[in-house]
Amino acid sequence: MGTDLEKVLLSKEEIDAKLAELAAEIDRDYQGKDLLIVGVLKGAVMVMADLARALSTPVTMDWMAVSSYGAGTKSSGVVRILKDLDTDIAGRDVLIVEDIIDSGLTLSWLLSNLSSRGPASLQVCTLLRKPEAAKVAIDVKYVGYDIPNEFVVGYGLDYAEKYRNLPFVGTLAPHVYGG
Ligand code: XMP
Ligand code: MG
Repeated sequence: MGTDLEKVLLSKEEIDAKLAELAAEIDRDYQGKDLLIVGVLKGAVMVMADLARALSTPVTMDWMAVSSYGAGTKSSGVVRILKDLDTDIAGRDVLIVEDIIDSGLTLSWLLSNLSSRGPASLQVCTLLRKPEAAKVAIDVKYVGYDIPNEFVVGYGLDYAEKYRNLPFVGTLAPHVYGG
């Protein structure tokens, strides 16, 4: 596995520090509110787990699974709900938690889907964003790191379901994906 990785982009320490900053902002913004955080499976599992523990605000947690990518590194542009929320979000303050915003197509679809359910508020927190890859403009309130337009793995992010358990974010060596 060591040789599959090209470089470490964000260390565990950098990720932890950024999540602490984001959690402090979220704590300020949602003081006294009844916040529901929604993790987008599977990539956001690590961000959800660490962000939730960094928050002082009591939250409830729910999960959605959508598919937008196959086993490779290219967006299909097609979004499908694989697992819907268990929670009725009408009138709730909802914060979507994402691992990464790449083209933005998945999130843009998710935002319009969830808005139609009548939440009191709907915002997004993402650990990573690739500004150069954006295909749609999305207003994201909490962004961890803007990163270059390279395929990244680790800390929840996978290539063909591998590497999700790495404690850091890194780039793959081109030979792994046939580059
Ligand atoms: P879009 O392009 O719709 O991407 O914003 C949505 C989802 O695609 C996955 N994604 C990645 N996964 N490394 C990954 O392991 C990447 O560089 C990457 N870029 C996009 C991710 O699940 C994201 O939520
Ligand atoms: Mg994802």
